[in-house]
This record gives sequence, C-alpha cells and structure tokens, in this order.
Amino acid sequence: MNIILIPFSLILSILLLSACQNESKKIIQEPPLKAKTERLLTVEQDVSNLLAKMTLAEKVSLAHASGKFHINAIERLNIPEMWLSDGPHGVRHQIERHTWKSAGWTDDQATYLPHLTSVAASWNVEMARLHGQVLGAEARERKKDFILGPGVNLARLPLYGRNFEYMGEDPVLAAKLVVPQIKAIQKNDVAATIKHYALNTQELNRIGVNAKPTERTLREVYLPVFEAAVKEAGVLGVMGSYNQYYGTNANQSKHLVMDILKGEWGFQGVLLTDWNVDINTYDAAMNGLDLEMGTEVDDYQDYFLAKPFLTMIEDGKIPSSVADDKARRILRVQHIIGMYDQNRHLGVRNTVEHQAAARKIAAEGIVLLKNEPVGSKPILPLDTNIIKNILVLGPNADKKHGTGGGSSEVKSFYEITPLAGLKAKFGDAVNIQVMRAKSSALSPIASDYVASRHWTGTPAWNISYFAEPARKTLLEESWIVDSQYKSTQPETVQYITMAAKIKPLAAGLHHLNVKVEGDFQLKINNKVVISSQANVRQVGKEITLHYAIKLNENEDYAFEVQYNGHEYFTLGWDAPGEFFADEAEYIAAAKKADAVIYFGGLSHGDDRESIDRLNMKLPNSQDEIIAKLIKANEKTIVFLVAGSAVEMPWVAQANAIVWGWYGGMEAGHAFADVLTGTVNPSGKMPITLPAKLADTAPIVLNDYNAEESLYSEGVFIGYRWFEQQKIKPLFSFGHGLSYTNFEISGLELSANNVSDDETLLVTAKVKNTGARAGAEVVELYLRDVEASVLRPNKELKGFAKVMLQPGETKTVSIHLNRRDFSFWDESSNNWLAEAGEFEIMLGNSLDNISQRAKFTLQPAQL
Ligand code: BGC
Repeated sequence: MNIILIPFSLILSILLLSACQNESKKIIQEPPLKAKTERLLTVEQDVSNLLAKMTLAEKVSLAHASGKFHINAIERLNIPEMWLSDGPHGVRHQIERHTWKSAGWTDDQATYLPHLTSVAASWNVEMARLHGQVLGAEARERKKDFILGPGVNLARLPLYGRNFEYMGEDPVLAAKLVVPQIKAIQKNDVAATIKHYALNTQELNRIGVNAKPTERTLREVYLPVFEAAVKEAGVLGVMGSYNQYYGTNANQSKHLVMDILKGEWGFQGVLLTDWNVDINTYDAAMNGLDLEMGTEVDDYQDYFLAKPFLTMIEDGKIPSSVADDKARRILRVQHIIGMYDQNRHLGVRNTVEHQAAARKIAAEGIVLLKNEPVGSKPILPLDTNIIKNILVLGPNADKKHGTGGGSSEVKSFYEITPLAGLKAKFGDAVNIQVMRAKSSALSPIASDYVASRHWTGTPAWNISYFAEPARKTLLEESWIVDSQYKSTQPETVQYITMAAKIKPLAAGLHHLNVKVEGDFQLKINNKVVISSQANVRQVGKEITLHYAIKLNENEDYAFEVQYNGHEYFTLGWDAPGEFFADEAEYIAAAKKADAVIYFGGLSHGDDRESIDRLNMKLPNSQDEIIAKLIKANEKTIVFLVAGSAVEMPWVAQANAIVWGWYGGMEAGHAFADVLTGTVNPSGKMPITLPAKLADTAPIVLNDYNAEESLYSEGVFIGYRWFEQQKIKPLFSFGHGLSYTNFEISGLELSANNVSDDETLLVTAKVKNTGARAGAEVVELYLRDVEASVLRPNKELKGFAKVMLQPGETKTVSIHLNRRDFSFWDESSNNWLAEAGEFEIMLGNSLDNISQRAKFTLQPAQL
C-alpha cells in the first residue's frame, strides 16, 4: 500500500475541483461574477447604518409576514418588500397576496424540474448544481427573494407523505448534494431556504408530533445536511419544521436554534417558520426565530412576532437587541442577494437550456433495478430492430405530476408524459398500442379529477365527522385524498360527510360505481343521485350501486357523500376517454406485443404533503395487473414512477424493473432516452426498497404514531437498520445497474493516520469492461471495527461518479477527514474519532462491496 501524506489545504482545493468526476459537459454556465465581492465587503456596515435609522416598530415589522409570501417594505428608508415562493422543484405559480388562492396569472409557468429524489439518485454533484442553477435563475426572473427549498428531511419512513420532495435516506449523500445545489441557487441573487429544521419525518399530526431523538441520533443523522448547508454552502434561509422537539415547537427550541444553528454553526441568515406554526411570542423571540410566516389570523398585527412582540419589548420583557438581531438578519440577506444593487441578476425562465437541464437531471436519476436476460440478452435497452410492437399500459403512462403534492406543486411550462416521450423517440419505427387495464377491484376517483384542494395544494376531499345522523354536531373536520373511506373504529358507527369539487377531463357519460357496507348517499350539485338505506350495523354485507350521468368537460361539480356505517365505501367511476380494457383484452394484447411497458407507481394522490400513505402497496390493483402482464409476456418492463418505496410482490418474476421518480417536465423524454439506450442508466437508489413495510424500523419498533416519535432505531436509519438486523431488502440503498459493466480495483490509501488538519485520500481504479459508454458511482462505506459504542456496519462517507468509454479506466478519489471517522459522543458532547481500526469499503452498491482496506486511526494529537 502506498502511503503519502497530503496537506489539508491542498486537499481542500483538489476536493472542490474534483468533487465530481463526471465529465458531462456543463450545459449551463452560472452568471459571471459581478461587483458582488465589493458589495459583500460593505454589507455589515450598510446594514448597521440602516438599522440605526429604524424605529423599533419598523424593526418588528420585518419579523413577520405582510402577505402570504411577503415581508414588509419600509418605504421611508427605501427598504424593499421581499417576495418568497415555493419550492424545491420549480417556482410555484403566483398565489394571491392575502389568500391561498391562485392569483390567476397567465405567465407564471416555470420549468418543472425533476424532484430532489432524482438529484439524490444521480449521485452527481453536477446534477445538484444544475438543479440549483435553474431554480435560482427562474426564482430571480419571477422576482423572488427567497426560494423555499431545498427540502432535505430524511426518508426514515416509507409512508412519509413528503419523501418525494427530498434527497433520500442518507445524511452524507444529502449533505454532499445539497451544498452545490444551494450555492448555485444563491449565485443568482436569490436566498435558498433549506427546510424543514428539523426532524419532520412524518405527516401524521405533523404539527403536534413530539420528536425525541437522542442527541447522538440528532447529530449523526438528522442534522448533518443542515450543518453542511450552513457551514459549507452559506445558506441564507432556514425554515423551521412543524413538529415539536422535546415538547416545544422546533422553531423555538433553544437547543436546535440558539445552541446549534446560530451557536455552534454560526448561522447568519434568517430562520423562518413554516406556514402557520404553533409558536409563542416569548420563546420564539428569545430562542432565535427571526421571521413568522403563514399564521392563520385576519390581521398581520396579530402574528406572535408582530404586536405581541413589540409590546413585550416595550414592557421590558424582551430586550430590544432581540428585534435588532432579527431585523439585521433580514437586511443582511437583502444586501447579500443584491436587493440594493443596480446590477442584481435578472434571471431567466423557461429557456431551452433549462429544459435540457431538466431532461439531463431526470435521465441521470433513473435507476435500473433489474435487467435479466430473456433468451440471449436482457430486454433493455429496447432493440428496435426486433421490437416493432410495444404495448404501453399503467396509470403513469400518460399522467402529468407537476400540479400536485402540496406546496411543491409547479405550474409546468409543459410536461412530457412517458407515453409522449416514447412516441417522440420512436416516431414511425415502432408501433405503440396504449391500454388502461381494468383491475378487478373498484378504484376511487383519481386525484386528477379532484379540483378542491387542501390548503397546501394537495387535491383532497373535505371530510366531516358528526355525532348523529342528522349531522348537527360536528365532531371533527379533516382531509382525505381519495373517494374511499375505511373506518379505523369498526365498533362505532360513524356519520361522515365527504365533499369535493370534481372536474371531468372529458365530456360524456360517467359511470359511477359504489361498493359499500352501510348507508350511502351521493349528491351531485345538491341533487341526490345515489341513495341506499342498508342496515348500518350489518357487517359483512357489501352492496354495489351504480349511476350513469352525463358531465361536461372542465366544469366543477360539487360532489357530496354521506356515509353512515362502521366499515367502508369506495366511490369510483369509469370516465370517458379512459379506455379501460378488461383482463381478456389486455392479456391478449400483451401476448401479441414484442414488448410490454407498464408505467406504474404512485402519484400525488399518494405522495403528497399533509397526509402519509396508509401502506406501502401500489394502489389500485397494480400488483395484480403487473403479475398478469409478466405472466403473459416475459418481455414486460415494469417502470415505476414514485417518490417513496413500494412493495413489489412480483419482483422475482419480473425481468426488467426501472425506477424513474417524478422526473419533471422532461420526464417522458428522459425515460425514453434510458429505455432505448440513448442514455445509459447510472442512477443509484438513495433509499432502501424494503420487501415489506413491516421490515422497516419505525414499524418494527412501534415508533410511528401521532403523539411522539422516539427515533428508537437511533442512528440506524434506512439501510443501516437493514444491515444491522440482517433483513434483506428488495433492493439495497446504492443499488443501480447499467447497460455496461464496471470493475473497481486498486484501492489505495494516502496515509495510515489522519490528524486534525490532514485528510485521508482514498483512490481506486474503475474500468468500463463492457461495450457501451457509461457512468459508474463508486460508493465508500466505513466501519469502525473497534468502536466503544454501537455503530452501523456500513456508513456512507463519500462517493465519486465517473464517466467511462468502453475499455477506459480512470482513477477516482474520495477524501476522508477526522469528522468522517467520528461519532457523536454523548459524554463529552462532541464528535469523537476513536483511535483504532476502521474498515474502508468500496463498491457500486451497499450490497456489492468489491474493495476493502483496513486503516488504523492514531489517537488525536494534543
Ligand atoms: C410547507 C412548506 C411550504 C409552505 C409554504 C407548508 O405547508 O410545509 O414546505 O414551503 O407550506 O407553502
């Protein structure tokens, strides 16, 4: 083994230059540097000068919203108004100043970018940079000052409704990608806002649930991505999370904010609340919250950090320096992003470069999960010399996902569906037959038709629970995403009303179908169209109801269901234009086709803000249909579009499985690029795909409920849990295949010890041993062989992606510093790298380690 010692400063510069080995041509250049350095030099002085001129009331006016997405202007001092906007994968359409309604603008479309799950799956810092550059430039063009992203809460629980917005389950992967993403956003003179700080890992009672992880779990798992954003990327905005942290709202937690964020990490930007959070004036003011947003009161003066804050300062209960600090931070951000600068970047939106970036990121995030030979070779990439007739099915074949999911919705400039992408790719060369397979079970009305929305933007039905059949005493009101109800209290009769605005996508006869145990009534525009009086207490007696009605395209209809019972109902329909084929028909077509592509997965009816999924199954009988298709044609490709893990009971039978995420407006083109081999897939899973929900830590440890979350698995999030418990997942974290093959060899370490100012350089060779050009990710995992505390068997510590021509070999370099060897030591309350033996493992997946080396860490020098 060659041992060379390298000074840390040199390594740092190499690290910055070579963080990504991908040779992909930069298709977008960042704006050129301007007089920004000069501007930055005077920021603190300029801010102090302004602050000295402000009254106390003016300072307080900057600590709370003055519109849904606005911060007050102070005209007297030429302090401009600030505009904020969601969100992580595109600039949201314009919302009315004082309500959640759309402002009705016609020119507020944006580039709908692949979701951050896709960036995470690319394992490529260049994709993260590109994503940030597009987002920043478009936010700026829309005159936004804060963009409310990136979102980085870790995917601890597959059911978590917001996994689709974030960067997977691993703290190091997310941290390494978030840094270039934030830097690129902010280069456009827009403040990035990393969210949600911290521990927002479920939507179930997201405002009330009390997160109680140990300090070690907090530090090692849930904070590193925020820490990197603050310390390495200089993020200017941090959004607090809805949940509680040890009994107080996370936004006003002294420990999270004053001790860590603003204390240890030295955060100089603005900590803002999420929209409508349960805080109190004193704690929020004293514990470092800078800006209150979204509180649901009629008068902005009634915000906790408005009049009540001013009064407490005037009464001497809160020092005035607290208001100074909050105002200073807002003014600081304003100056850094050039709001007082003539040359502030102007931004651009919906350019062809942005569309190309969306396609590139989407393609790099696609993960080829399985590609077994059928006959002499694997099905993918599709060989169009042989494959001339393709049957395309599945709910995501022609589905758009931009306008859904909650606050991260994007009014997309356009969106290429998978079907449109295939058609564009094949032209006349391949004949595509399209079908929608009818499942044997009744499916609820798809969310595409639901025009009413939860306030976050998620298509939803309003559900009201009453005490009696006459519906006089309202017990509870809530939201539900589907026209489907299942009682969780089978002993008690429920009296519920569910209402939604439904907008047909095509005019014509809609066949409404109901399966119900109990009494059921449906009104459309106040007229009863279905009514059944069964015996509400009679269990096990399912009845089916039917009604056909002519509806107009794009017109809103008020649907209202009244249900009395203690079991369930499903209201579904056969809508015109959906062309549902029955089993005999689609199986016959599948048998005839040269290949079948089933675009299944989830939608924002499942992956959505404010509501967790109920289980990990594919909805609407997809498993049944997929299994039948695979049986009918072994050249069936299952292509899943989803933001969080799903079960795959048919996995052993499937020969080809691809995972595509929500791929943004260019998703269809990117999917077709990979299916046909124009792009060689190089994505790797940023989440574990468990075989079943019951294998996951929060479920095994009974730690998923509405009251409190103890994070009982500790630092064993995601794959660390599966490794420790020796549970085999369906597909491992870090797994992803290519159309070529790679060999990793020649692992070398630059030293046998690292001191505090040195770093260890790990190098290895990667060779493309196949016949196609392709990119491979080398993943570095670490094991502390002699740890005094329980540590994971493998912890990701670094990675490098490299593009290789057939036969080509390149060397990749990954750097480890002392912190990488450390764990959070609860007795000294600090990071501790224990001397002793470590194992360094390299592979192209967590479960495919091909290179190992031992390394002895010497004790720290005093
Ligand atoms: C979400 C945030 C979002 C905010 C503003 C909240 O519901 O949790 O992520 O930025 O709304 O739309």
